[in-house]
Amino acid sequence: MQAVPAGAVELDRGRIRELTARELAALNERTPKSAEMYQRANRTLSGGVASSYQLRDPWPIYLSHGEGPRVWDVDGNEYFDFHNGFGSMVQGHAHPAIGRAVTERYGQGTHFAAPTEDGVVVAEELARRFRLPRWRYTNSGSESTMDAIRIARGLTGRDDVMKIFGSYHGHHDTVMVSIGVEYDRIGPDERPNSLAYGAGIPQATVDLVHAVHFNDAESMERRIVELDREGRKPACVIMEAAMMNLGVVLPEPGYLEAVREITRRHGVVLIFDEVKTGLCIAAGGAVERFGVVPDMVTLAKALGGGLPTGAIGMSEEVARVVEDGSVYQVGTYNGNPLGMAAARASLLEVLTPEAYAHLDRLNDRIVAGCGEVVERYRLPAYTVGIGSKGCVTFSREKVVDYRTFKRAQDPELSELAWLWSMNRGIFMTPGREEEWTLSVAHTEEAIDRYVSVFAELAAELAG
Ligand SMILES: Cc1ncc(COP(=O)(O)O)c(C=O)c1O
Repeated sequence: MQAVPAGAVELDRGRIRELTARELAALNERTPKSAEMYQRANRTLSGGVASSYQLRDPWPIYLSHGEGPRVWDVDGNEYFDFHNGFGSMVQGHAHPAIGRAVTERYGQGTHFAAPTEDGVVVAEELARRFRLPRWRYTNSGSESTMDAIRIARGLTGRDDVMKIFGSYHGHHDTVMVSIGVEYDRIGPDERPNSLAYGAGIPQATVDLVHAVHFNDAESMERRIVELDREGRKPACVIMEAAMMNLGVVLPEPGYLEAVREITRRHGVVLIFDEVKTGLCIAAGGAVERFGVVPDMVTLAKALGGGLPTGAIGMSEEVARVVEDGSVYQVGTYNGNPLGMAAARASLLEVLTPEAYAHLDRLNDRIVAGCGEVVERYRLPAYTVGIGSKGCVTFSREKVVDYRTFKRAQDPELSELAWLWSMNRGIFMTPGREEEWTLSVAHTEEAIDRYVSVFAELAAELAG
C-alpha cells in the first residue's frame, strides 16, 4: 500500500464540480438507448432495475453483453470491465471452459434438488483451498451469511451477534445494521451505535447486533467482555478479513491473529465473510493470504463464475449442529447442478495457480501505475491492492476503519472519477465504497488503459 504523498495538493472544489457536470452531460449524451430503456423498464420494474444497488440518476447504464475483459452497453459503447459484477466475474465474461461445462450440464438436466458429483468435487476443492473440512451450498452471499449466523447461534445457544461497523454482509435483517451511517451518527468509539440500514428491519433484531471498529482487536475484546457481563455474549463475530466496501481496507499487522485468539478464548464463533475476498485475493481467499483460519467462511460472487451460487465452510465442530439436524441449513436450489458445473470448471480449469500469478502481476502493474500518477500530481490519494482487487482511495489520511473512511474519503472526487472512467471506456463500480476487480481475461492493454485514463483525470484536476 502506498502512502499519501507528502505535501499533497489542495484540489479546487469548484473545478471538481465543473468537471463533474461536464462529464455527466457527456455520459448522458453517450447513452440515449439506456435512457429509452429506462423509460420502458420503469413502467414495470421498480426504479427500472432488478436491485436497488443498480439504481442510478438520471438512468442506469443497461448492458447488452460481455466477452473476456470487455462489456458493451445497449448504445454500443465498449468498455474494459473493472466492475466485473461487483467482483463476481474474476474469470472474465463468457469463459469458454465455463460455457462448455454449463452447456454440457444443460443437456443432462439442470435441477433435481438432489446432490450431484460436481457438488462433491467443488466441496473437496474448497476444503483444500480454505482449510475448512465441511461445506454446504447456498445461492447468494446473503444466504451464506444468514445461514452461517444461524449455525453459530445454534451451536452456542446465543442470540447476539458482533460485526464490524460499516461492513456489508448482505441484505438479511441481522446484517443490515450499522452500515451506511453518517459520520455524526456513528456514536462513541468504544460503543458505536446499532442502527438499522433502511426501513423494515425489526428493532428487536437491531438490538441483538453489536458493532465494533475494524483494526481494533482490543476494543473487540472489551466489548465481548462487557456483553458477557450483561449475559449477552455474542454467538459470533462476522467480518471481512480485508474490508471491501470502503474501497479496500487491509488488516493491520497482527489484527487478524489477535481476533482469532480473542474469539477462541471467549468461545465466540469467528466467521470470515469471504463473499468478496474468497477466490479473488488468492486461491484460498483471506484464509490463504493472511494465514488465519476462522471457524466458518462464507462464499458467493466469484464461486459460480456468473451463476448464483454460494457456500459455507465450517470446522468439524461447527458442522456438527448441521449434521445432527439441530440447525436446518436448507434450500431448494442449494447445490444446483448448473451452478456446481460452473463452479467446478471455474475452480479446476480457470482459477488455476497460473491465473492467480497473472492476476497478481496485473494488479502490481495497475497499483504501481496509479501510484505513480498520484505521486506525479501529488494528489491527496493513495493506492491499495490485493490479488485481483484494489483502488485509488481519495483521502488525505489512511483509511483504517469506517470512522476514517467517513471523515477523510472524498465522495465528490469518487463520483467524478467514475463518470470520467465511464466516458473513456472503463466500466467501474459506482460509488465511493467500491474497488476494481481484475479478471483472468484482463491483459496489460486493459491495465494500461485504466492507468492512462486516470492520468488524464489527474492532469485535468491539476489544471
Ligand atoms: C462481503 C459481502 N458479503 C455478503 C454480500 C451479499 O451478497 P449477495 O449480494 O450475493 O447477497 C456482499 C455483497 O456485496 C458482500 O460484499
